[in-house]
Amino acid sequence: MIVFKTSNGLTADQLYEIAVIDNSIPPLYQDDFAVTDELNQKRTEYYKDIILKGFFNAAFHDGMLVGFHAIKLMEQDVIFAHIATFWVHSDFQRTGIGRQLKIQGEEWARSMNCRYIQTSVHMNNPRMLEINEKAGYKVISQNMQKSL
Ligand SMILES: CC(C)(COP(=O)(O)OP(=O)(O)OC[C@H]1O[C@@H](n2cnc3c(N)ncnc32)[C@H](O)[C@@H]1OP(=O)(O)O)[C@@H](O)C(=O)NCCC(=O)NCCS
Repeated sequence: MIVFKTSNGLTADQLYEIAVIDNSIPPLYQDDFAVTDELNQKRTEYYKDIILKGFFNAAFHDGMLVGFHAIKLMEQDVIFAHIATFWVHSDFQRTGIGRQLKIQGEEWARSMNCRYIQTSVHMNNPRMLEINEKAGYKVISQNMQKSL
């Protein structure tokens, strides 16, 4: 059975475990990204800030971390939600955990009177593009980047 733990229900050790996984996502798309303990600590602090002002949700199967989703509350003319991170363990993908995390996150964003929810997706991440499109997201801008 999948158990969801939100925000203050998550321990410091669990947040650090999430940071280690979260920081390892970029190498899928960037060859030159090195993960350090310092980066993991920084990421953990960033999550604590999200817990204070946003929504953090993690999924566990028999105590094992199998997914997480973090949303920041933002304000720029209107209040909106920004997805800071989203991940599901490879052994548990395509079982609906990602969809459940998204649904719970959107419920929270609605309860906070957010006008919309937004996320950044790498062009080389077709699964993420597909889950977002199926969830009703539309592409509204494209970020362009050049290595220096
Ligand atoms: C993207 C991700 C979170 C999806 O989580 P998930 O639990 O597998 O998603 P679900 O099982 O709820 O699937 C929901 C929908 O997502 C899409 N999807 C999920 N896995 C997919 C795949 N391998 N290929 C294509 N579409 C996929 C489908 O539209 C799917 O709906 P369907 O099963 O009815 O066809 C997961 O694949 C993941 O963690 N990827 C690696 C981490 C990552 O890229 N994070 C983003 C960094 S910005």
